[in-house]
Amino acid sequence: MKRITLTRFLIDEQYNRKAVPADLRLLIEVVSRSIKAISTTVGKGALAGILGDAGSGNIQGEAQKKLDVIANEILLEANEWGGHLAAMASEEMEGPHAIPHRFPKGEYLLLFDPLDGSSNIDVNTSVGTIFSVLRCPEGVNKPTEAAFLQPGTAQVCAGFAVYGPSTVLVLTLGAGVHTFTLDREQGGFVLTQQHVKIPADTQEFAINMSNMRHWEPPMKRYVEEMLAGKTGPLGRDYNMRWIASMVADVFRILTRGGIFMYPRDNKDPSKPGRLRLMYEANPMAMIIEQAGGAASTGRERILDIVPTALHQRVPVILGSKNEVERVVGYHQAASE
Ligand code: AHG
Ligand code: MN
Ligand code: MN
Repeated sequence: MKRITLTRFLIDEQYNRKAVPADLRLLIEVVSRSIKAISTTVGKGALAGILGDAGSGNIQGEAQKKLDVIANEILLEANEWGGHLAAMASEEMEGPHAIPHRFPKGEYLLLFDPLDGSSNIDVNTSVGTIFSVLRCPEGVNKPTEAAFLQPGTAQVCAGFAVYGPSTVLVLTLGAGVHTFTLDREQGGFVLTQQHVKIPADTQEFAINMSNMRHWEPPMKRYVEEMLAGKTGPLGRDYNMRWIASMVADVFRILTRGGIFMYPRDNKDPSKPGRLRLMYEANPMAMIIEQAGGAASTGRERILDIVPTALHQRVPVILGSKNEVERVVGYHQAASE
């Protein structure tokens, strides 16, 4: 395969396909630079003293890891001064982060989960970064939370990185999904897979089974049927994987198909799910749909949800289309 760098790919999208304006191209370049910096930091592990707790909590009441804070800082700093953004929002910050007055401002809003899979940092398993790009609503000079509350269908770009055995960057601009791999010697991302497609059928599921007793009946039904295997109602055996890093689970699904579920449960009635809509579910749903898969809460398409809060949580069921549709069907049957 001819070596196509991320920069070359984006230039081609800008000039030949008119699929990306110059300032959005700059935004993606800057985000990819941040991802490179986070990848380098993650790779140093214990040698750089970056493992363990930060000793602080985020707005969601979760203990922050040192790397959550470091990755957040890297993304904020890199994206502040380029003139491509109106504001940023992150899992690790209560409200939007305004662009300081001394820097030029642009027309995009960037949202991110700086470090996804934090529970895996200290055990040396894959973690990642997820991001979503929206347009700042017209006439809004000082974006508040309200400016960010747009449905996932409004995303102009979504992506995620996995810091695994290799560092990969998965990107969509709304016309297919492409994967880039970090060339550590030369320091840049190189296109390694174009127009990724998820098989419509699968026999592999990902869910945290320890929550089973808290699930709703349609989810219990589906998982019980899969566990029943060949002699059960689905008539085949299923395999299970759960990495506890959504980035790594979704990358596996992009690679060989599968269904990923973090459903609604009744552990804490104030939380309708574990994952956050704006910077986890929405970007992943856009990528999955662009790769031919489906993404739903069980009751509605994730990308259609009109957000009510920046840190809103939603149930997430995504991956191979026919399996996601089966789960949606079970939810419908249960409500009839
Ligand atoms: P984060 O580290 O950004 O808070 O997200 C972790 C998420 C997601 O990556 C993963 O699928 C899920 O939480 C794991 O949850 P459990 O620990 O409940 O399995
Ligand atoms: Mn996360
Ligand atoms: Mn996170």
